[in-house]
Amino acid sequence: KLEAVIFDLDGVITDSAEYHFLAWKELASSIGILFTREDNEALKGVSRMESLEIILRLGGKQDAFTLKEREELAASKNDHYVQLIQRITPGDLLPGIRQMIDDIRAKGLKLGLASASKNAFTVMERLGLMEEFDVIVDASTVVNGKPHPEVFLRAAEMLGVHPEFCIGVEDAAAGVEAIKRAGMFAVAVGPEENFDKADLVYSSTAELSLDKIMEAYRS
Ligand code: G6P
Ligand code: MG
Repeated sequence: KLEAVIFDLDGVITDSAEYHFLAWKELASSIGILFTREDNEALKGVSRMESLEIILRLGGKQDAFTLKEREELAASKNDHYVQLIQRITPGDLLPGIRQMIDDIRAKGLKLGLASASKNAFTVMERLGLMEEFDVIVDASTVVNGKPHPEVFLRAAEMLGVHPEFCIGVEDAAAGVEAIKRAGMFAVAVGPEENFDKADLVYSSTAELSLDKIMEAYRS
């Protein structure tokens, strides 16, 4: 029987995926790399340093910077990102998310967050959601990034729920893989073709329906 729903943050609860994109795009451009919205798909759910590696490879500059320089580039992207997320307010929940949280609560299910971001607590605070979630796991306390299942498993463990009785919600291919490897039911948000591993795909958060998700989970 279903006991908990565990959400990804960036791109599911709020549109911070867009701020990650803007910050990476500017960083890439500063080192002469053209970085597009399509390129950005591969970065969703991926850690900060790994994201930088992907961008450098894209521009054929994987060997152009020392580790120290790469750390500075990542820090500069993060400074910009931290600036951008100061704009987030409780009004910035993506469509359908408020309803989902209320429905999950009304059904007596537990609510968790599993984010690959080190800025997850800041974003959750800006959204006014700190009190509403039973558990928040961010990148600072896990060793392995998505698609490794660690962050979802940790959230389930802290909720005291067996993974089998959890649903995970993600907008990243790496995230959906992490949910499946954790042994959970995976709900994906985004274009169908990105998510062959998901149990259920919604084109946007506005389409999310807890009743339908629970029905699919049971069958
Ligand atoms: C999330 C986002 C990624 C981001 C990662 C690290 O998973 O989907 O795009 O790179 O977090 O975020 P951070 O805030 O720690 O740089
Ligand atoms: Mg995401």
